[in-house]
Amino acid sequence: MNGDTELRCLTRILWLQLCFLTLTSSLVVSHEVHIVYMGNHHAHLQPHEKTDIHRRMVTEALGSEEACEKAIIYHYMHMFSGFAARLSTEQADAMSKMQGVVSVFKSGTASLHTTRSWEFLGLDKPGGPPSPNSLWGKTNFGNDVIIGVLDTGIWPEHESFHDYDLGPVPERWKGTCESGEEFDQSMCNKKIIGARYFPGGFELAVGPIDQFAVDDFRSPRDRDGHGTHVASTAAGRFVPLANVNGLGNGTAKGGAPNARIAVYKCCWAIDGLFGVTCTDADMLAAFDTGVADGVDVFSVSLGPSSPQPFFQTAISIGAFHATIAGRVVAVSAGNSGPQLGTVVNSDPWSINVASSSIDRVYGSTVTLGNGYSFLGGSITVPDDSLNMDLPIVFGADIVAEGANVTGASFCLPGALDPVKTQGKVVLCLQGYIHRNEKSAEVKRAGAVALVIPNFDAGGIDLYADNFILPTITVAEVDSNPLLDYVSPLQPRPTSDPPPTIRISCSTTIDGVKPAPYINAFSSVGPNIIAPAVLKPDISAPGLNIIAAWPGATPPSSLPSSIDKRTSKWNVLSGTSMSCPHVAGVAALLKALHPTWSPAAIKSAIMTTALTVDNTGSELRNSSGFPGGPLSYGAGNLNPEAAADPGLIYQSNLDDYKVFLCSNGYNQTERQLITGLFYDCPVSLGNPSDLNLPSVMIPEIEEGQPQIVKRTVTNVGPSMCRYTVSVIEPPGIKMTISPSELFFQRENEAVDFTIQFERVSAVPAGVQEFVHGSFTWSDGAHKVTSPVVVAANFL
Ligand SMILES: *[C@@H]1O[C@H](CO)[C@@H](O)[C@H](O)[C@H]1NC(C)=O
Ligand SMILES: *[C@@H]1O[C@H](CO)[C@@H](O)[C@H](O)[C@H]1NC(C)=O
Ligand SMILES: *[C@@H]1O[C@H](CO)[C@@H](O)[C@H](O)[C@H]1NC(C)=O
Ligand SMILES: *[C@@H]1O[C@H](CO)[C@@H](O)[C@H](O)[C@H]1NC(C)=O
Repeated sequence: MNGDTELRCLTRILWLQLCFLTLTSSLVVSHEVHIVYMGNHHAHLQPHEKTDIHRRMVTEALGSEEACEKAIIYHYMHMFSGFAARLSTEQADAMSKMQGVVSVFKSGTASLHTTRSWEFLGLDKPGGPPSPNSLWGKTNFGNDVIIGVLDTGIWPEHESFHDYDLGPVPERWKGTCESGEEFDQSMCNKKIIGARYFPGGFELAVGPIDQFAVDDFRSPRDRDGHGTHVASTAAGRFVPLANVNGLGNGTAKGGAPNARIAVYKCCWAIDGLFGVTCTDADMLAAFDTGVADGVDVFSVSLGPSSPQPFFQTAISIGAFHATIAGRVVAVSAGNSGPQLGTVVNSDPWSINVASSSIDRVYGSTVTLGNGYSFLGGSITVPDDSLNMDLPIVFGADIVAEGANVTGASFCLPGALDPVKTQGKVVLCLQGYIHRNEKSAEVKRAGAVALVIPNFDAGGIDLYADNFILPTITVAEVDSNPLLDYVSPLQPRPTSDPPPTIRISCSTTIDGVKPAPYINAFSSVGPNIIAPAVLKPDISAPGLNIIAAWPGATPPSSLPSSIDKRTSKWNVLSGTSMSCPHVAGVAALLKALHPTWSPAAIKSAIMTTALTVDNTGSELRNSSGFPGGPLSYGAGNLNPEAAADPGLIYQSNLDDYKVFLCSNGYNQTERQLITGLFYDCPVSLGNPSDLNLPSVMIPEIEEGQPQIVKRTVTNVGPSMCRYTVSVIEPPGIKMTISPSELFFQRENEAVDFTIQFERVSAVPAGVQEFVHGSFTWSDGAHKVTSPVVVAANFL
């Protein structure tokens, strides 16, 4: 059927259905942004033909062209066919029954989830230019690869984005530089080659951009700071003398310093810079446009607050179609750890990134009046005036009139009594509001410093945010002794001297051990959306990362009326900071191997990851336990090894189609996900058969062995022989067959199977999830896959 016939046909069918629509719609007042997803239905049509169809559908649904113009926010026409429009529930419902419509769902929201990290990862070697054999040397720092950043926009004047010495914009680039508030086309250059903004879904769901406490820019310009920080971590240029308050002084740079940046602003600041919202409608528009523009690698440090089914979130839908179109997508795992089952963005096609530490701490030595001493996190302007015995009080003991003890314990706005706070150091509990917002209250009440203990499974993480006043964050082990001393449960004898604290100047401490370890906040598997897929995939630096910051945003992210400082650099923590580390490395791999698929790049990154720390022990979590692949996936990012993985695990559209069948998705759901109507193969295989570089067995019964298939493709030299070595999970017998693989040619693919068998003798103390690994090696390469089995031993 050609386009014209289909158009006419569709129109006729629409007429019939729309009589019903117009009748019911007049009764309805509320109109919410819905995404009408039509999958591959119009794959043979040109983009403008798709938009014509969308307009007809909505015009007829709403009764007039005028109403249609107002209702449609975006057309999705590149990756698939669909649109975002304001519809009542009834209109949305009726539209979901129209021909060609795969699904209609409400546009939900997501939220935002950074010098030494590249040295720590081994990419940046001190002392001169990189060697010609290094990943930077071989790729000219990722020259010409295009990284699309979906985030809060960019501060284009920042030195990290200068284009000195860069070649012309790659010819295949089709994007543009959109002007808007305080942003014009001259602000793009050979580094920032495109910049767009997507306010439509946000403005309808939340309200006009200029109406909020934070005056965000109606343009690609970044008010919040998150987008600028993330973009510079992935692809910032070399800028010497970068530091925060004089600490961490060194040369700032991104993972792919010569890659090009394409900005897609789809997240907007609302009420304070901690309140940033991204709507599905806007994120999907960003993906759709980015694919058409020619983005090679997407960096997406955003996610829903809890795990969501793949095809109700724009990130999974966008990532699916981008992957099928050959683009790599890196996403953040989320900051809801260490509880199990918290990982978000957990589809099998994107690269999901957890957060790890580097071997650097910004800290101060803290000494209490009773002699107890510990290292606290801090990146304050070096200031010797705190290095003396100062009075310290717990917020709960200095409650303002009209406030309550809970509010004062957590230092919520207005809860502290200035008279009792003046000149003291205040201890506030972690929770309810961001650490930086507590510092504003403590400063308002006249304190000289803030101390924040962490009782909430925080482990050894020491945050060093750029607070508005000197602030110390405290590791979990030191938190009880601290609080017991400052505010004991039994009243202190009046003969005892009041509690005091001494805080030394902040310093930069390098070579810290153990490192890396997985941060407490980093979201953890298992994957509750797709239990046969291990998530996260990889870990990368996300604690106290220094990167670029906008010129008009205070580094504390507090309102400028409260914090008048500006800073070219800022220090942030979160899986948001980890994700662009992987995007940067993916860009380098794309430069080195232009023909590699997204799955191949993901495989190279995963199979070469490090699973030991700088003390030689297995990667641990922030509490010192081996967290296993549920916390770090394949391990910590290891860029130079990823350049030459030896073997790769490929997967493509056909594999994802079969995966959906074997994982029990029905016809309707499969179509929701792929946009395709297809039948499943007769023989389905194991749900864990998708050819990923990891293996997750979501359940196993005694006496019922399971066989999982994998295929490896040789990307190393021809004529080679690989042998396997296995580390079995406790209580599980693993048999790999064959145990030797021969490759005569490059790109030759060879199959093998892994049999899992639960053995009856269960070792004592074994937990529900047990892990192991298997490694293929030809002597030169080591291709390692993590294995996790949910065995329900308990
Ligand atoms: C950073 O280091 C350089 C030398 O490497 C020095 O000249 C400069 O003063 C330092 N800046 C700060 C703020 O410490
Ligand atoms: C305590 O104060 C906070 C605001 O500081 C308020 O949100 C909370 O409801 C109060 N709790 C009680 C029990 O009054
Ligand atoms: C570390 O792992 C242990 C054991 O799995 C777990 O109980 C704990 O909550 C984890 N702690 C952190 C901070 O990740
Ligand atoms: C497919 O599964 C969904 C639940 O996710 C269910 O609502 C629907 O009825 C199922 N469709 C068929 C054809 O079984």
